[in-house]
Amino acid sequence: MADTKKSATLTIDGKNYELPVLSPTAGPDVIDIRKLYAQADVFTYDPGFTSTASCDSTITFIDGDKGELLHRGYPIDQLAEKSHFLEVAYLLLYGELPSADQLEDFESRVTMHTMLHEQMVNFFRGFRRDAHPMAVMVGVVGAMSAFYHDSTDISDPWQREVASIRLIAKMPTIAAWAYKYHIGQPFVYPKNDLDYASNFLRMCFSVPAEEYVVNPILSRAMDRIFTLHADHEQNASTSTVRLASSSGANPFACIAAGVACLWGPAHGGANQACLEMLREIGSVDRIPEFIERAKDKNDPFRLMGFGHRVYKNFDPRAKVMKQSADEVLDLLGVENNPTLQVAKELERIALEDPYFKEKKLYPNVDFYSGIILDAMGFPTSMFTPIFALARTVGWISQWKEMIADPQMKIGRPRQLYVGETARDYVDVEDR
Ligand code: CMC
Repeated sequence: MADTKKSATLTIDGKNYELPVLSPTAGPDVIDIRKLYAQADVFTYDPGFTSTASCDSTITFIDGDKGELLHRGYPIDQLAEKSHFLEVAYLLLYGELPSADQLEDFESRVTMHTMLHEQMVNFFRGFRRDAHPMAVMVGVVGAMSAFYHDSTDISDPWQREVASIRLIAKMPTIAAWAYKYHIGQPFVYPKNDLDYASNFLRMCFSVPAEEYVVNPILSRAMDRIFTLHADHEQNASTSTVRLASSSGANPFACIAAGVACLWGPAHGGANQACLEMLREIGSVDRIPEFIERAKDKNDPFRLMGFGHRVYKNFDPRAKVMKQSADEVLDLLGVENNPTLQVAKELERIALEDPYFKEKKLYPNVDFYSGIILDAMGFPTSMFTPIFALARTVGWISQWKEMIADPQMKIGRPRQLYVGETARDYVDVEDR
């Protein structure tokens, strides 16, 4: 728990209330208002949680002004360059980088759980053929609670561990099958001699009629996209998972809630929206028109892939993603990709524009990820499922941390009620 040497004084109607101030290991101090309502009979008001810490956590730290992202203290750029997704998953889940033996054991546990219960095939087939893969994922992940009863008791640490491994292991299979169903191809079963990213690529792109050889550069790029999306502290979907699980709901239901929240265009859906926007812009000469629209208060249009609630500087993930985009497009021989040209020029113009400078709007992780995924052959509808697959480990790490906390209680925000006060019912003939 954070240090509490300081305090803050709140004065209401001339009466003072001393509030403890918690000092974290990094980041701004936090005023502890947990006893405020009991003492002063007031609530605090913070829609969108712009100034409210909803929990304490040891997993991920972001310094939005510096553009810094740390997982368990390790900078994301070092992890993206030197580590790989399953090692980062271990770090997020258990708090330290694994030894070689621990990593081997963890990878083998994840690998042993990649298959889905065969009856789940029927579940996929029940969806309309044109269902968005995110719609399928929300349903199928939630349905896991109907298939894996032996890992839904959240009071049992062993069951929590099994559920965690199952979710991390099965998410690529679920996402790949949602895609295969969407395009009318047969489901491809996981192949456990492949690494996590290669296995996912094979399940998405191989067909029974042909051998599929995974390109190691694409597999590395895929793994890096997973790593960059693995966790991002208390964002909307993670907070959704925490709130859902605070009621004691089972892990599969909670992660399904996270998938649902991630889908929105202000969050995980931004990568799809960003590529669609870049395509709509189409050519460099049309950029000024879209910049003007983004600045126009009367136009709801926003530059997708720009801006962030926490980062008021470059999103450190965007820097790595941009470098990856160059490598992948170079490998695929599409370095003159018109969408990439539009993206680079849009970024340059926006970063020089006073509106974006003043509001500290910088490219976020989604600005370049769509270009890479598109070049790899994924349709835009698969961008957010890939984000969900990767973020699952973050959701689970935060969920495990919360459940293991003896102070855990149900999340129950209060409100500033501005509706009618009590009034008498009026019979229909008198209205
Ligand atoms: N284009 C144009 N103007 C913008 C943009 C943008 N992308 N983002 C924010 N602004 C303006 C906004 O109009 C507002 O102006 P004003 O102060 O004059 O009213 C100001 O900047 C602050 O915006 P806000 O909506 O109050 O900021 P927020 O912290 O609530 O929203 C955001 C953050 C990410 C939802 C927002 O920047 C946005 O909608 N960006 C586009 C969507 C996007 O790329 N989302 C992915 C986020 S990163 C991946 C993830 O975490 O899921």
